[in-house]
Amino acid sequence: MGTIIAVAGKGGTGKTTVAALLIRYCRDAGMVPVLAVDADPDANLPEALGIAATTSISTVGDVCEAFAHSKETLPQGMPKEAFFELSLHQALVETENIDLLVMGRPEGAGCYCYINNVLRKYLDVLPNSYCATVIDNEAGLEHLSRRTTRNTDNLLIVSDYSLNGLRAAVRIRQLANELRLDIGCVGLVVNKVTGTISDTFLHEVKKTGVPLCGVIPFDPLLQEQDVHGTPVIALPHNTPSYGAVCKIARKLLGDRNV
Ligand SMILES: Nc1ncnc2c1ncn2[C@@H]1O[C@H](COP(=O)(O)OP(=O)(O)OP(=O)(O)O)[C@@H](O)[C@H]1O
Ligand SMILES: [Mg+2]
Repeated sequence: MGTIIAVAGKGGTGKTTVAALLIRYCRDAGMVPVLAVDADPDANLPEALGIAATTSISTVGDVCEAFAHSKETLPQGMPKEAFFELSLHQALVETENIDLLVMGRPEGAGCYCYINNVLRKYLDVLPNSYCATVIDNEAGLEHLSRRTTRNTDNLLIVSDYSLNGLRAAVRIRQLANELRLDIGCVGLVVNKVTGTISDTFLHEVKKTGVPLCGVIPFDPLLQEQDVHGTPVIALPHNTPSYGAVCKIARKLLGDRNV
């Protein structure tokens, strides 16, 4: 089974960008197939990976909702669980090297215990078929806390270059502790750093107790691509921001000569 990396952080810090560039690293390193999971209800990982434009995506939430309200009878001889798993599989978008699963909104009112149990089992096993899994989470770690995404080997908390961002990163770390999530390693990524990161800031980072895993420079090209709707994954190879993510990925996944 491959490594699982969950990316979390305050809104707008660059979670999706970091997740997409980690996925790019896996692809470039030949760690394929890679599974990309968008666990942010405000999903934009498909755009960052350039998958949204070419494919219509139904989310896991859509599939669960449809299954819960379906009046259809099961195909003859097929157990309910197998039929639901088959339906869930329809939410998996398969491309050449990257498969994408968009979680969508968590369930609404009503009893979804059965559905969530099957979903949990499905998502527990799914990463076994991939060299690496990268999960783009929202700040509340909703899916991690509901265990609808499985335990993770690495949790990367993204902060921007601000004390506010650092404070939010500490809260996410605390939340992960409170939820008693089974996480192998937690690391901090400071994103959008202009110039050289200051000693004062590094001192503040040290005080958080979250080990610094990497620093990503502010990259005007990322912003330019964003404005023009160019997927993050299409970033030129030799840009400093991708170089910085490669360094982080090597720490987590080993040196793959990318
Ligand atoms: N290193 C960087 N340099 C410059 N711009 C960046 C960098 N990283 C991310 N951005 C820009 O910051 C914005 C927010 O990035 P992104 O969407 O990845 O954040 P997010 O944390 O996933 O946001 P949300 O909470 O809305 O999901 C985007 O416009 C993105 O292009
Ligand atoms: Mg995002």
